[in-house]
Amino acid sequence: MNVLVTGGAGYIGSHTCIELMSAGHEVIVVDNLSNSHPESLKRVEVLAGKSVLFYEVDICDADALSAVFETNTIDAVIHFAGLKAVGESVAQPGRYYHNNVTGTLVLCEVMANYGVYDLVFSSSATVYGDPASVPINEQFPLSATNPYGRSKLMIEEILRDLHVSDHRWNPILLRYFNPVGAHHSGLIGEDPNGVPNNLMPYITQVAIGKLKQLSVYGNDYDTVDGSGVRDYIHVVDLAQGHVKALEKLSENPGAVAYNLGTGRGYSVLEVISAFERASSKTIPHQFVDRRPGDVASCYADTSFALQELGWKASKGIDEMTRDSWNWQNKNPNGFVFESE
Ligand code: NAD
Ligand code: UD1
Repeated sequence: MNVLVTGGAGYIGSHTCIELMSAGHEVIVVDNLSNSHPESLKRVEVLAGKSVLFYEVDICDADALSAVFETNTIDAVIHFAGLKAVGESVAQPGRYYHNNVTGTLVLCEVMANYGVYDLVFSSSATVYGDPASVPINEQFPLSATNPYGRSKLMIEEILRDLHVSDHRWNPILLRYFNPVGAHHSGLIGEDPNGVPNNLMPYITQVAIGKLKQLSVYGNDYDTVDGSGVRDYIHVVDLAQGHVKALEKLSENPGAVAYNLGTGRGYSVLEVISAFERASSKTIPHQFVDRRPGDVASCYADTSFALQELGWKASKGIDEMTRDSWNWQNKNPNGFVFESE
């Protein structure tokens, strides 16, 4: 298939491009590089041994996006392009709604103009809000606590409405749990701007000496050791889930959501221990207050994805921490070279 990957230069998108190409698909990337570096796609090409057709295009720009559809035959779209920092979304809600929601509306309008109705969308476990229990299945009630989460929820609803209005639409909503890790080569990985908000990149930057110590947000949750529990999933497993979702589109599944997680939760302290084993580094840490908006435990019921997509995550916490460290250690400044 010819697959348009929006946001394909980013963390999950770049890993997915490799898995798509190794499954025999042709990849066309549009990305405005607002949160990524063109070097990531150069490395994707090295790893895949194939070139990637890249357009520096903002998905909110209908004319530029139409030109991409005009010059290429596109069978399906995998839609990663979006802004994803929770704190930033609280400070700049308009920017988040415009980029994420308007961007998706423009994309869908252009797709329909060119007769393309097959779409895989990057949603998030954040749409489950504060879940009443764990593990979380796809039928759990949906809610959001911040503009980022609300933008994902709004997009899910828009895509469901599109399917109701016109059954040619097949939007697959992939709800990611906590993506971590990197390609085993260490050539591509997560390259956050500024001080990371998320646990794994924060730990790797402590290990490399860029940050002094990790603050563990809370030690009094009702969990195995008092620290928060999450379902970390290796980004390569996640990328392979997208290939499976793409294959599912041939069955015209309609609007359907799948959890992509491992089904296993790890506490912050367990992640620190696993990382220390993998890297032979010590991660200095101190307990601080809970972070507002955090939940105690969040992990997936993954049975629906297994049943419907034939997909199951295969990489455990040791591979996740090893590959996160390998990427950080080989690229202390991410994709930005010292001279830039
Ligand atoms: P990322 O920031 O690395 O990748 C997103 C890419 O989209 C970037 O390359 C960015 O430049 C591009 N982009 C943003 N707005 C754009 C626009 N208007 N036009 C064109 N390109 C645009 O993020 P990621 O971690 O790879 O996440 C990919 C998707 O998955 C996002 O939609 C994110 O919300 C979602 N998601 C991520 C996580 C996570 O923990 N990483 C969890 C759940 C969901
Ligand atoms: C966060 C976002 C979520 C988003 C996801 C992926 C919040 C409230 N949630 O999820 O919407 O989809 O990232 O981008 O921001 N932790 C520490 N110290 C740190 C960082 C994190 O102890 O410096 C803890 C957290 O309290 C949590 C766990 O580590 O228990 C994981 O945190 P994080 O990586 O930020 O992911 P989420 O909070 O699950």
